[in-house]
Amino acid sequence: MAEKTIIEQTLVELGDTTPEKVVARFAEVRKRFDEQFARVAAKPDDWEVFRIHWVGRKSGALTKIADNWLKSAPADLKQPVGQAFNELKSHIDAALQGWRAAIDAMQDIGDYMATAQGAYASRAAHDAALRAAATAAAIIGAAGQTEPILPLIEPVDLSLPGIERPIGTRHLIRQTFEELQRIFLSIGFSVVEGPEIETPYYNFEALNIPEHHPARDNMDTFYIAGSRSPHLLRTHTSPMQIRTMQKQPPPVRIVVPGKVYRRDNPDATHGYMFHQIEGLAVDTDITFCDFKGTVDHFAREFLGPKTKTRLRPSYFPFTEPSAEVDASCHLCGGSGCRVCKQSGWIELFGAGMVNPAVYGFVNYDPQRLSGFAFGMGVDRLAMLKYGVTEVPLLFQNDVRFLRQFP
Ligand code: DAH
Repeated sequence: MAEKTIIEQTLVELGDTTPEKVVARFAEVRKRFDEQFARVAAKPDDWEVFRIHWVGRKSGALTKIADNWLKSAPADLKQPVGQAFNELKSHIDAALQGWRAAIDAMQDIGDYMATAQGAYASRAAHDAALRAAATAAAIIGAAGQTEPILPLIEPVDLSLPGIERPIGTRHLIRQTFEELQRIFLSIGFSVVEGPEIETPYYNFEALNIPEHHPARDNMDTFYIAGSRSPHLLRTHTSPMQIRTMQKQPPPVRIVVPGKVYRRDNPDATHGYMFHQIEGLAVDTDITFCDFKGTVDHFAREFLGPKTKTRLRPSYFPFTEPSAEVDASCHLCGGSGCRVCKQSGWIELFGAGMVNPAVYGFVNYDPQRLSGFAFGMGVDRLAMLKYGVTEVPLLFQNDVRFLRQFP
């Protein structure tokens, strides 16, 4: 068993059997308190532990002294023990009260300091707060805490210019999202968002992506361990095509901005997270012409009015036919340069006419409905448009980079 501290023993056990020894014993306790108090004054975070240690009702030092020294004192020592106990208790109470007042006072001063920069509702409110702070300073002075406080309550000159804090700008990715949304909102699309944690059903199955499709490969998809049913981080924003069509009858015209995740090794053109904006338009009379017209309009709005587009055959399980959309290079105008690798064209995004198989998953009538879809890599589009060459620059948040896109 651990050795008993002195306040867990009786005075008789301690051998304090004369009034002189009792007085000395109490002086020792008082000295200990004073030393600890001085330490806590310099380190107010320890205040509560200190307070409970001394005056905690159940097992604070004062309680133990009352129980073990006072109550069990032999008859001839009752009087000196009682007197010494009362003195010790008043000493401790006074010190703790003084310090409590000092802490409250610091709060008053802090409040005054925090609002002083011209934010008071009236002159009277300012003066009242200043008076509270000055009283507080006096209390703290009395508690021996003058030093760090007084310089802080120098009168504030409200006629001086305020402190200017940089308000920052929207990140390049955010700006690009907003630009893309503006373009599609202006031609009748609305914006919806969806979950980043998805089920394989929405991320794959319902998009007609069969089991063997490479996007399902463990190499590409983050699966979430430990969930009861399988979950994953969405690898694209396309699941929102399904969720939207499940929820609402046609017509549908949406874009879906958001984050997507893939298990790529980070390099100049890849991260494990990137941004996409998905598009979907479904109605009774949507043709390939509408698709091409929308793509053209988008490219001219985003890259400039002279931009041309072309479609190359491609493959996505959820579109048929599928296409890669290219734009004429916005830097050389199509004559060939370093950015378009001398081809005159730049790959923009994947797209196509919605595969009728997808309608089967959402109870849409494939006989009656048609539509198109697209999925853009937002980071990629931002880099193209603004000439950024390294993906990591987008996420390091170096202000020297960010400031270039005010
Ligand atoms: N989800 C595809 C991807 O992440 C991109 C995509 C291609 C989306 C064609 C579409 C689409 O909606 O029609 O690679």
